[in-house]
Amino acid sequence: MRRPLVAGNWKMHGTCASIKQLLNELAEQALPDDVDVAVFPGLIHLQAVGAQVAESHLVVGSQDCAVQLEEGAMTGETSALQLKDIGCSMVLVGHSERRQLQDETDSVICRKFIAAQAAGLTPILCVGESLAEREAGQALVTVQRQIDAVLVELGVEVFNNAVIAYEPIWAIGSGLTATPEQAQEIHAQIRAHVAKYSATVAQDLKILYGGSVKAANAAELFAQVDIDGGLVGGASLNAKEFSAICRAAGN
Ligand code: PGA
Repeated sequence: MRRPLVAGNWKMHGTCASIKQLLNELAEQALPDDVDVAVFPGLIHLQAVGAQVAESHLVVGSQDCAVQLEEGAMTGETSALQLKDIGCSMVLVGHSERRQLQDETDSVICRKFIAAQAAGLTPILCVGESLAEREAGQALVTVQRQIDAVLVELGVEVFNNAVIAYEPIWAIGSGLTATPEQAQEIHAQIRAHVAKYSATVAQDLKILYGGSVKAANAAELFAQVDIDGGLVGGASLNAKEFSAICRAAGN
């Protein structure tokens, strides 16, 4: 039985004051016991968020890490070991915004994945096709290529301690959510693909859906057999909305 995970990706949002308030509001909301809940603040807020949620069940993750595990001469970067040191336990790798805005390639993403696991962090590997790729019937090809950059390179066992987030680019921040059927179709294909290498790893692998998840559509998405929770952007900045999404992932 896979335990659901709902992850809030705060992207480049928030000030010290607004984030403190968001967490205070979240603490007043009922969060389900049968769902793992994680938040991914910007780098500069990680430590403050970690301190504020220390007594709660909330997990804290980073939106990115360096390709290099150890500290070193990499101006502006943050290593996975440094993230571990300040209390992070997860990290997003390969978010489509970083693939697009920072030109992150599959091989760079693979190196970040390796660094994350070597530091003891759980990577959430983000994959997803563009609208043009979907319209050309290439959605699955794209997603498989992004997964294979890690799976074929490192071996299926690395997914024993990793999560995959399927985020169609056309659904991110657009208000255009994939239908539950569209999402389930790709999730099932991802799981079947991993199962070609190991049925047990595929069976236990959490596959999150991301792309305009809201309280209003979360329950339908999470009801799909291969959707194990969500990676939530915009709606994670609102405590009521985010907690409702977390509850929708529970029983
Ligand atoms: P969104 O973002 O929920 O605002 O669409 C999701 C994401 O980019 O992780």
